[in-house]
Amino acid sequence: MSNTSNRSRKILIKCEKLTKTYDDRSVIVKALQGIDLIIKENKFIAIIGSSGSGKTTLLNLIGGLDKPTSGKMWFDGEEISSLNKKEGVLFRRKVGIIFQDFNLHSVLTVQQNIELPMIYAEKLDKHARMIRVEDLIEKVGLEKRKRHIPTQLSSGEKQRVGIARALANNPKLILADQPTGNLDSKTGDKIIKLMKDLQKEFSITIIVVTHNLDVARKADRVFAIEDGKIIPVTLEGKEKKRMKKKKRKKAKAS
Ligand SMILES: Nc1ncnc2c1ncn2[C@@H]1O[C@H](COP(=O)(O)OP(=O)(O)OP(=O)(O)O)[C@@H](O)[C@H]1O
Ligand SMILES: [Mg+2]
Repeated sequence: MSNTSNRSRKILIKCEKLTKTYDDRSVIVKALQGIDLIIKENKFIAIIGSSGSGKTTLLNLIGGLDKPTSGKMWFDGEEISSLNKKEGVLFRRKVGIIFQDFNLHSVLTVQQNIELPMIYAEKLDKHARMIRVEDLIEKVGLEKRKRHIPTQLSSGEKQRVGIARALANNPKLILADQPTGNLDSKTGDKIIKLMKDLQKEFSITIIVVTHNLDVARKADRVFAIEDGKIIPVTLEGKEKKRMKKKKRKKAKAS
């Protein structure tokens, strides 16, 4: 069996009995109520669920932006549910984030926006950073826009910058909360295709939260959050594709 096969793939994220309760004294919201989840490395994962079901809450926990109320989480074998402040800052640098509203620095150029996380990480000198910036700009197809600032870009181009920036520090994981939510469907399709291509090329895991089932159908695995609980789902159309693939593989082998 090849070492990239499903069974031998390493576990990247593990959540055990994860809960999150928001309690600001006036209102208590049990946003997550016992999430058990395993995500292996080198996967494109989609999380779906109705508004308010807890998708962003879960992403925030996985990305170290918030702490669970109870339960445990591991990233790449390291327990992350009980990191102190300093460890939390270091952990967050290992995760790339793509935002629905792009979240670019308005006065910085495409090149500078992509370089910024590398400056914070303090791992590469200026020369090495510029080489990586140019490489990422090429990967997302923005060679002709690198000196533009965000107001001089289309929405799709802004999200391409967001993708390159998320890849800047070579993360094993990228989290994307509704990355196509502010794009028309054609541009959204292109962005998802780019994310999928780069996920494979860099052998990373990408978790996409989406309300768009066409986006979810493109994922290797889909999870749904309902009432603060998570369940694996198979979407109609996706199952047919999976069976066709299986048939093709069988025919090839025989
Ligand atoms: N900081 C907070 N304080 C109190 N309640 C919160 C807070 N953040 C989220 N919630 C509540 O937790 C629940 C889950 O919210 P979350 O943002 O995770 O939903 P979501 O699935 O991402 O929804 P959407 O699809 O609309 O983005 C909601 O009922 C929300 O009102
Ligand atoms: Mg949300």
